[in-house]
Amino acid sequence: MPQHVQQQRSSHGRIATRRLRRGAAVRASAQNDRTKRAAAPPMSELVTAEDEETRMWRERVRSFFCCRWRLCNTSFGSHTTNNPHNPRVFPKQNIETQAEDNERKLEQMTLQMQRLQQSVDATSETRPNVNAPPPQSRQVSDTTNEDGSDVSPSGNSKRLLYTQGLTLEPALKEFWYPVDYSSRLDGGTLIPLELFDIPWVIWRNNEGEVCAVKDSCAHRACPLSLGKVSETGCVQCPYHGWEYDKSGTVKKMPSTPFARNVKVENLVVREADGLIWAWPGEPSRAESTPIPSLLPEGSNFEQHAQIQLDVPVEHGLLMENLLDLSHAPFTHTSTFAKGWPIPDSVKFHLDSGMGIVSGAWDPYPIDMQFVEPCFVISTIGLAAPGDIRRGVKAEDCDKHLRQVHACVPASEGKTRLLYLMHLDFWPWMKNLPLMEELWLSQANQVLGEDLRLVLGQQERMLKSQGDVWGAPVAYDKVGVRYRRWRNQLASCDETKCEVETTELD
Ligand code: FES
Ligand SMILES: [Fe+2]
Repeated sequence: MPQHVQQQRSSHGRIATRRLRRGAAVRASAQNDRTKRAAAPPMSELVTAEDEETRMWRERVRSFFCCRWRLCNTSFGSHTTNNPHNPRVFPKQNIETQAEDNERKLEQMTLQMQRLQQSVDATSETRPNVNAPPPQSRQVSDTTNEDGSDVSPSGNSKRLLYTQGLTLEPALKEFWYPVDYSSRLDGGTLIPLELFDIPWVIWRNNEGEVCAVKDSCAHRACPLSLGKVSETGCVQCPYHGWEYDKSGTVKKMPSTPFARNVKVENLVVREADGLIWAWPGEPSRAESTPIPSLLPEGSNFEQHAQIQLDVPVEHGLLMENLLDLSHAPFTHTSTFAKGWPIPDSVKFHLDSGMGIVSGAWDPYPIDMQFVEPCFVISTIGLAAPGDIRRGVKAEDCDKHLRQVHACVPASEGKTRLLYLMHLDFWPWMKNLPLMEELWLSQANQVLGEDLRLVLGQQERMLKSQGDVWGAPVAYDKVGVRYRRWRNQLASCDETKCEVETTELD
């Protein structure tokens, strides 16, 4: 249960307990009065005159306590006006009229208080919907600690709630995404892919351009990716042979008179740095948005591996896993973190490098960056090839292994992972036979160690059986900042605002 709800509940609980105690005291007092009244002389003998002013004040005080102590269900008249210890009492007729009047007023007050209580209870019971866009006020705070907790002005620490679900925020579409490697797309190849829940097929036309259209024929919705690239460089449907050009327009309709202006959607695609990039958002914004450069600048890094995997996990959960190094000695005990001791403390020191979050892990010699919208870049300092030594900085090492993870949102709960690995030593190694297979096997093993955990998280999250951001701590800083960025995108979907990354600092 979120802490703010717990706080509200415990606060209501205390109020309810106080009310119960007061109610019990009043009931005891009323019972006492009734006992004494039974033994008291008849009312007619006790009724004497009372001056107006005293009566007025007595009524006011009585009304005040009746409201506060919720005496509404007790007999107002008998409890107060028939008190045998009161030396001044009213004439019997006046007392009865007054009592009836007060009963009516109190019934009205009771009704009002019950309504108020119901509305307060309803507010305290409200649970955030994991898929609902988060309220903006909960996402961006000026008083956020490094561990993601929020310190209120009163000094009481309370947790921020980070909304997380499988929903792919529409604002997430307004970015360039790498969807495959240029080298995989030769002249006759059709590659199917999913991006934001839409199936696409990519191929190269006779001019060598990368083309992408919706992978669903306009005729009978057959997947075009099951067809082939025609002699004219169009994609040909395998069902009745309709052919589509790069704009998605039908150019050929065999065996029937040609119908003009039949087309399917096309996707804006480009090539850069050996990758095929797609723009799933508003096409007019693509030209004005630069494609991010993922290659290391001013160094002697060489690419040794490029891997592509389709993973059945929401891309944000995978991102958060990749942005977390503190789990390594517990999770990767069969691969790269085998034999690592558990440090007393794991920290991430921020710096002003590339991307929204950039910094260095401590005590590991690993620098890490989150680059929007879906990239985790890490540079690992090696004391010797294969030797990650604790307590040193990546920049102090002679040899480095650089990894780029691109987590591309394929559909709800599915991610296409592109992995690029660079080394700044032993350039000859990439020419050794079976190196690609070796790296792929390593990557699969490491991913397998993570995947069973992340899939478990996803299952808990979807069944509302757990909060993946229930208790962030200091080493979750990078993941928290990524999640805040995602949540801010979701709130921007509602307000159509620009993403203010500066608010994350
Ligand atoms: S379904 Fe594609 S041509 Fe008929
Ligand atoms: Fe991991």
